[in-house]
Amino acid sequence: MNWWNDDEFDEPSEQSFKVCQVDQLKEGRGRISFAGTTRVAVFRIGDEIFAIQNACPHAGGSLGVGPVSGEVVACPRHDWRFNFRTGACLDQGMYSVRRFPVEVREGAVFVTVKTS
Ligand code: FES
Repeated sequence: MNWWNDDEFDEPSEQSFKVCQVDQLKEGRGRISFAGTTRVAVFRIGDEIFAIQNACPHAGGSLGVGPVSGEVVACPRHDWRFNFRTGACLDQGMYSVRRFPVEVREGAVFVTVKTS
């Protein structure tokens, strides 16, 4: 028996959550939803769907309500732009946003996040 508890060192697990229906997503507009307790911003381009963290890494602006152009969303607070396909910030190279795996099942959008 160890003096530490092995359970404390478990890797975080992942879980998939339904966040919306595909037909609720409109091109050129984000949608904010929860994947478990994680707030995500979801975007659609044609048949492709993307999910990123909703909170801007600069000062927490809500990316899901920012203006969208192609695969880029601008933060509504200070206008930093993020490519939601890659997560890269186009204005501040040292910043990026977390991207989450997306899956569509029977018309519903599922986003996978780490839970621990
Ligand atoms: S909070 Fe997003 S650019 Fe400042």
